[in-house]
Amino acid sequence: MAKQEDDFKRVISHAKEYGYVFQSSEIYDGLSAIYDYGQNGVELKKNIRDYWWKAMVQLNDNIVGLDAAIFMHPLTWKASGHIDAFNDPLIDNKDSKKRYRADVLVEDYVAKIDAKIEKEVNKAAKRFGDAFDKEQFLQTNQRVVDYQEQGKTILSRLGKSLQNEDLADVKALIEELDIACPMSGSKNWTEVKQFNLMFGTKLGANAETAMDLFLRPETAQGIFVNFLNVQKSGRMKLPFGIAQTGKAFRNEIVARQFIFRMREFEQMEMQFFIQPGTQKEWYEVWKEKRMKWHLSLGLGQDNYRFHDHEKLAHYADAASDIEFRFPFGFKELEGIHSRTDFDLSSHEKFSGKKLQYFDHEVNKNYVPYVLETSIGLDRMFLAVFSNSLKEEELENNTTRTVLKLPAVLAPVKAAILPLLKKDGLPEIAHQIIDDLKWDFNVVYDEKDAVGRRYRRQDANGTPFCITVDHQSLEDQTVTIRHRDSMEQERVAISALNGIIHDAVDMKTWLKKME
Ligand code: GAP
Repeated sequence: MAKQEDDFKRVISHAKEYGYVFQSSEIYDGLSAIYDYGQNGVELKKNIRDYWWKAMVQLNDNIVGLDAAIFMHPLTWKASGHIDAFNDPLIDNKDSKKRYRADVLVEDYVAKIDAKIEKEVNKAAKRFGDAFDKEQFLQTNQRVVDYQEQGKTILSRLGKSLQNEDLADVKALIEELDIACPMSGSKNWTEVKQFNLMFGTKLGANAETAMDLFLRPETAQGIFVNFLNVQKSGRMKLPFGIAQTGKAFRNEIVARQFIFRMREFEQMEMQFFIQPGTQKEWYEVWKEKRMKWHLSLGLGQDNYRFHDHEKLAHYADAASDIEFRFPFGFKELEGIHSRTDFDLSSHEKFSGKKLQYFDHEVNKNYVPYVLETSIGLDRMFLAVFSNSLKEEELENNTTRTVLKLPAVLAPVKAAILPLLKKDGLPEIAHQIIDDLKWDFNVVYDEKDAVGRRYRRQDANGTPFCITVDHQSLEDQTVTIRHRDSMEQERVAISALNGIIHDAVDMKTWLKKME
């Protein structure tokens, strides 16, 4: 646990030191769970968004984009169920006065059981070596089987209690599991209460007539209310999808996990409209497609798993999370939800407008069903960033900090370094920049010895360092250093564009999904 905490702290301080993520309004002591993205962070975030958009919109001829406003008519949230049901169960510790999500306390308890299972698996893998069969071990080792059963029973009871709004049983579960306040160790808990997560605001200059509005807690509803606009103007035929990226706002109860759980964050969502009755099929299709998108980035297959929901949201008939191994354990990264016709039907009811599709094949009108994929951009940022940050032991008994971001996502693709600040070397470096900057984000760095500049770019996540030296003056060649292997090679200046392109080209990376 202490190692996990240290690793996570290192991630947070590295993100600040290298211009990725800053606390919002830091000079005023910050705002809790609100963050700003710095000069590198904004590039990484944009590259992740582009990687998603290209995979979703450009590569699927039946998916189109949308950019709906953040403010929506207040009835939207009545229809979507957010006013009545977008609640989290909160619990306070009477001694420490700290507030928690009751379900997260229980889930964290189960995460500790999962960690015990992983420990047993690692121990056994060491003991049995190549002969180790993980699947068989998970099914036959009695201690591990008991742990799995225990975790399942707890989550199933939590799911049922939440589904039935039985908050007294959620508290009983916390007490039975002997869960203590992580801050103080106290087990002196209040009752569990529901808390609505939407932020309210006002529209209009006149206090008496101003309309109560909400900041949207998800981007999805902007897609639903525009379903017919897009379908008719684009003459879209089912099945088709509408994709959107944009800010969402939630007044989260627990906000102590950096950019994992924020009060202002960005979502990348896609609603796929389908014929009723085909939802099971499409659910499987999108689970697989989304997992392939994640795996294409090469962060390691073992770092992902599916978690099928016991407790279904009010709109869903099936739901699964893609979980990622964050520095604090496996947690939700993306949700895949079969939303039935809940949203469109409900908007029909509240707006009095038909939101139906005429299907020529079956010659009738119906409200389409919806399959949703929903991922937090900031959470994806954290997954990529935390997984990429490594401390490496080098052969000469030194260490280096390196941010091994997938090259396709790296904010800066290459740093151009003149060996000396004289003899015409900076001029050549600037010429290289003038050529490369049309295609890639590149930087110039002439400060300090070249070894220190390499280390700085390693920590910054820059995949290539290009060093200009005296030989460059004679034969128009430079040294290119690869961040991950630290290998260096001599190449013609004219070959640089091609080398960088091959490493960072989105097409090459996205092709791995096939
Ligand atoms: N439209 C469905 C929906 O919003 P959700 O599971 O509540 O579903 C989807 O959210 C994704 O949005 C999550 O998997 C997560 O990646 C991201 N997300 C949700 N709340 C967040 C928060 N407070 N901070 C950062 N990301 C969040």
